[in-house]
Amino acid sequence: MEIVVSGIRPTGNLHLGNYFGAMQNFVKMQDTSNCYFFIADYHSLTTHPTPADLHGNVKQVLVEYLACGLDPEKSTLYLQSDLPETAELYLFLNMNAYTGELERCTSFKDKIRSQPDNVNAGLLTYPTLMAADIIIHKAHKVPVGKDQEQHLEMTRTFANRFNRMYKVDYFPEPVAYNFGEQLVKIPGLDGSTKMGKSEGEGNAIFLFDAPEVIRKKVMKAVTDSGPTEPNQPKAQAIENLFGLMKALSTPDTLQFFENQYQACSIRYGDMKKQLAEDVIKFTTPFRERILDLLQNEAYLSKVVNMGKEKAHASASKTVQEVREIIGFKAF
Ligand code: TRP
Repeated sequence: MEIVVSGIRPTGNLHLGNYFGAMQNFVKMQDTSNCYFFIADYHSLTTHPTPADLHGNVKQVLVEYLACGLDPEKSTLYLQSDLPETAELYLFLNMNAYTGELERCTSFKDKIRSQPDNVNAGLLTYPTLMAADIIIHKAHKVPVGKDQEQHLEMTRTFANRFNRMYKVDYFPEPVAYNFGEQLVKIPGLDGSTKMGKSEGEGNAIFLFDAPEVIRKKVMKAVTDSGPTEPNQPKAQAIENLFGLMKALSTPDTLQFFENQYQACSIRYGDMKKQLAEDVIKFTTPFRERILDLLQNEAYLSKVVNMGKEKAHASASKTVQEVREIIGFKAF
C-alpha cells in the first residue's frame, strides 16, 4: 500500500475552506493508503510559542482534525515531538544539506523579510526537518498545497543525495500530491475569491465558530446595490455568496435566490439570513464534536499514545537502518 505522510501546522482553527479543501481528501485517503498524519509541533518552535500556547494549539488542532474524521484506527495520527527519531534523522540530513541551497529556499527568504528579528537556524533548516518527517516513513506521496512544492523538491534532493553518497537505493522519491480537481474552492466573505485566515478579519468561517459569530460574519459579508437588469453578471462578492450557498445550502434554496437575482428582486439581507442558518446547520455537529473532544482528555491521551506507538514502529526501523548505512556500528 502506498505510504502517505502529511504534517499539520498547529496554528489556528479550521475554516470551511480547509474542510472542503484538503480535509475531506485526507479523510478519504485513509481508506486507500497507509497514512501518517502528524502535528508539526517541532516546526512550530521557530516562532517561539509559550509552553501554554504550544500545548493549547496542538490540542485544538488534534481535536479539530479528529472531529472532521481523521480516524486513529485507520491512520497513524501522532505528534512530531513524540517521534525523536525524526530529530536524529534531521541531524543526519543537516550534515549533507548545504547552507547555500537552504538560503535559496523561497519560504526562508520570505521569513527574512517578514521577521528579520528572528531568523533562527531552525528556519534555515526547516526543509531538512520536513524532509526527515517524510522520509522517516519512506513515504511515496505527500498531500500538500502549492506553497510546499519547493520543500518537496528539496526532500527529493536530500533523499537522493543520501542514496548516492552511500551507494544505496534506500529512500524512495516522495512526490507532492496536489488534489487539483478534487478541491472544492470555498470563497471568502469579504469579496476575495478564497476563504483563508490570512485574508483578514471576517473573511473566514471556522468550524468552531459559535452560531452568533457565524450570523454576525455572514450578515457583514460584502454585497452591492443589487442587479438592475436581467442577466446582469454578478460582482465577485455576490458570486461568492452564491458559491457559499452552493456548497452549504440545498439546491432548492440556491435556485430560489438565483431566480430572485435574475428577477432583480433579490434582497441580500434575506439571502444572508438563510445562508447563515445553513452554515450553522452544517458546522454545529463539528462544533459539538470539538467541544466534546476538548473535555475528553482520556480519549485524547489514548489517541496520541496509539499514534506514537505506530509511528515509532516505522521510524525506529528506518533510523536503525540509516545508522548502519552511515557506519555507526555496534561494538
Ligand atoms: N511545512 C508544512 C506546512 O507549512 C507542514 C509540514 C511539516 C509538512 N512537515 C511536513 C507537510 C511533512 C507535509 C509533510 O504546511
